[in-house]
Amino acid sequence: MQTTTAVVQWVVRLTGITQVVLGLLFWTDRALTLVPLHMAIGLTFVVGVWTLAGLAARAGGRPGLALLAALWGVVVLALGITQGRLLPGPAHWVVELLHLLVGIVAMVLAARLGAHVRGRRVAHPASSGPGGAAQASETVGAAGSRTGVPPARPAESS
Ligand code: HEM
Repeated sequence: MQTTTAVVQWVVRLTGITQVVLGLLFWTDRALTLVPLHMAIGLTFVVGVWTLAGLAARAGGRPGLALLAALWGVVVLALGITQGRLLPGPAHWVVELLHLLVGIVAMVLAARLGAHVRGRRVAHPASSGPGGAAQASETVGAAGSRTGVPPARPAESS
């Protein structure tokens, strides 16, 4: 699950950055022939966000974040497909800005989901392979040191 999460996170990062670069080109009236490519990459990006949401839901711990990201993916897609028809005229820049911001928020949510899933390894050390037991004792040790009980001191010589 960790490797899958890392791979999907990279897909989301790379497609997200590509979307911003292409979008900025469109904004300045360049590379408009690449709009279909932008839409296809956008779909890949959203599928990546949904996959991360599914992985996070499976890992447990933050169901609200997973649900929000899944719904946000729908918003990214819906806004991307319809934005050309929304608010036509001089106020269309509002839709363009919203489209960019919605995409950036999706990237942030994806990063949080990825960090959450990968952080769960410490919470479930037994399921993470041979190193698990060592991590488990490390975690317990770290928690124990927060109990306020001072470590035993060696006997002082008089
Ligand atoms: C991370 C996700 C995305 C980012 C950061 C992003 C960014 C941008 C930016 C900055 C623009 C230029 C300003 C504008 O016209 O709004 C743009 C244009 C556009 N985007 Fe996206 N986008 C994303 C996803 C999508 C998706 C999923 C779709 C559709 C499925 C889509 C479809 C479009 C279209 C149709 C345009 C208008 C191009 C034109 O000027 O004709 N985008 N995008």
